[in-house]
Amino acid sequence: MEIRNVHDVDVRSKYVLLRDDFNVQIVDGKITDSFRIDASMPTIKYLIDNGARVVICSHLGRPKGKYVPELSLRPIAEYMNVPFIDDCLKKDFLMDMADGDVVLLENLRFYIGEEENDDAFAKKLASGYDIYVNDAFAVSHRSAASIVGVTKYLPSYAGLLLEKEITNLTKLLDSPVRPLIAYVGGGKVSTKIEVLKKIVKIADKMVIGGAMGTTFNYALGLPVGDSLCEKDMVSTVNEIIKLSVENDCKLFLPLDKGVAKEFDKNAVRENCDADKIKDDDIIMDDGDKTIARNIDLLNTAKTVIWNGPFGVTEFGARWGRASFDFARALAKYTKEGHLESVVGGGDTVAVLDACGVLDDISYVSTGGGAFLEFIEGKSLPGIKVLEK
Ligand code: 3PG
Repeated sequence: MEIRNVHDVDVRSKYVLLRDDFNVQIVDGKITDSFRIDASMPTIKYLIDNGARVVICSHLGRPKGKYVPELSLRPIAEYMNVPFIDDCLKKDFLMDMADGDVVLLENLRFYIGEEENDDAFAKKLASGYDIYVNDAFAVSHRSAASIVGVTKYLPSYAGLLLEKEITNLTKLLDSPVRPLIAYVGGGKVSTKIEVLKKIVKIADKMVIGGAMGTTFNYALGLPVGDSLCEKDMVSTVNEIIKLSVENDCKLFLPLDKGVAKEFDKNAVRENCDADKIKDDDIIMDDGDKTIARNIDLLNTAKTVIWNGPFGVTEFGARWGRASFDFARALAKYTKEGHLESVVGGGDTVAVLDACGVLDDISYVSTGGGAFLEFIEGKSLPGIKVLEK
């Protein structure tokens, strides 16, 4: 797939509407994870260096067309040290901009027309600009006005981050260095059915962990105690198991689990074999044998893809052990040149960040839902409109 990118156009003295995904976590007005903002900088810098007048727009959270003060982009403008425009449809500031200037507009989703891809809103948003650049891979699976609608009114191009995401993920899907092992965790099988079906077709091995692993074990008749488990997913799990056999993708499920008697950060952690989970046990992490097995499997991989943590990582080290130990091992194997690693998904990237190993992974995608849909092989509307 060939797309128009920002190198294809002369941006000097042009008003560029740049769509970024600055949907980051902000607590008490402070940005707690700047990964997506930092990943957007190369395009911003490219536009500045080439004399564009750069007007950045983004969404934050899901305010559903209402003004929600906590979801203002102002803290991001402060973080980036650029002027802030408090309404994304304002235009009067444009005439004061010089070549190389950058401003940030207020949250697009304060207007309902953004998520609804309302044509009148898209037209208003686009007016006053010469060029549109989409660098927001993470929201390119949404048919929003600022992703799809504006492209009807402006010559449109991909930014460097969007291009990088497409190049890296396409390489992973089309020509991975084998063996390829996929590690998939997270809460729900139901949100990842399509991606699991796709992964068994491209991976040599698939490791299922976390609450998803619990659901797989349940489908195989193992006890799961009082744990998070999608008991209505048995037939789907069986279908995925069948597909993995048909596609020669070896499946690895949790051997043991970290369990507690209460769902609490400070609860006492016990290790329990997967076939010995008691009725009152609550599974909160993969167990020690599983952790060792998962890390050992890295010795057999040349490419690793990881999406979804293996436990309640937000509870810290005690219940994040399976994810944190794995993240550190994956970073080490990557750094030592044994394998290429690709990681995607907000919670998984947060684990890398917490372990301080973000920079040691070969490719970290900024996408959550978009990353999964791309892996599934879906055509993302925001990318489709940029095709040559
Ligand atoms: C994300 O965080 O995955 C993107 O910013 C999309 O956000 P949304 O799921 O609220 O559309």
